[in-house]
Amino acid sequence: MQDLQTRNQTFVAHVGEGGLGQTARSDGWWVEPTLVAIGLLIFIIYSTWAAFAGTNYESGPYISPFYSPLIRIPGLALSPAIFVLWVPLGFRGSCYYYRKAYYRAGFWSPPACAVSERPKKYRGESEGLLRWLPILHRWFLYPSIIVLAVLWYDAFRAFDFGGHFGMGLGTIVLLANAAMLTAFTFGCHALRSAVGGNQKCFACGTGGDLRYRSWKIVSYLTGQHPMWAWLSLYMVAVADLYVRLLAAGVFQDPRIF
Ligand code: FES
Repeated sequence: MQDLQTRNQTFVAHVGEGGLGQTARSDGWWVEPTLVAIGLLIFIIYSTWAAFAGTNYESGPYISPFYSPLIRIPGLALSPAIFVLWVPLGFRGSCYYYRKAYYRAGFWSPPACAVSERPKKYRGESEGLLRWLPILHRWFLYPSIIVLAVLWYDAFRAFDFGGHFGMGLGTIVLLANAAMLTAFTFGCHALRSAVGGNQKCFACGTGGDLRYRSWKIVSYLTGQHPMWAWLSLYMVAVADLYVRLLAAGVFQDPRIF
């Protein structure tokens, strides 16, 4: 008992008072933030390059999700991805899960539970512009749903091989991309709040049953949100890379039928 008390006192003394990374934790707390930092860095480097490349984003019936919906402004020598990417960027950048992930992995603020950040007081998102992030996130949700609908359109258009119904490996890649993004978007905490929040009783209002069922589905996906955040993030890069390599003639799209 005495031991536990002493340990707890050391623990409390370290957190918030020690230097960056100080803790009484003896587990591998640093593994997750390190992997997250590497994962995000690789994606940021690849997606920045792909977005500014401005070439090889279409091949046959396929279009890279970084460039969809395709907005080309005649006479403007800017990559079309620039006009689209602010939507997923804003949505993911203000996402509840990603905020936790990059506060820990990128800013070490704090790096993990019960691990000291730089000697200053942790204030969460209670001050300055950070306070507006959850509200901003709600506003990014709606254009993200529109972009998602376009990606489903692209996935179905990928069955159209010059007027003939067919399916290539690229069709599956674009379908998988749209499906994973759907699981990510519909597990959004802000959507869960919009669907089921501000409600004392589902059965009392109109459409109560439908609302309750929708809330159950969204809640299920919300529980898996970190997993879909990563799967959809990397799937979108895989889909872009697939279209890019096809367009560059590196290989042929295997046709299934
Ligand atoms: Fe992650 Fe909304 S909370 S997308």
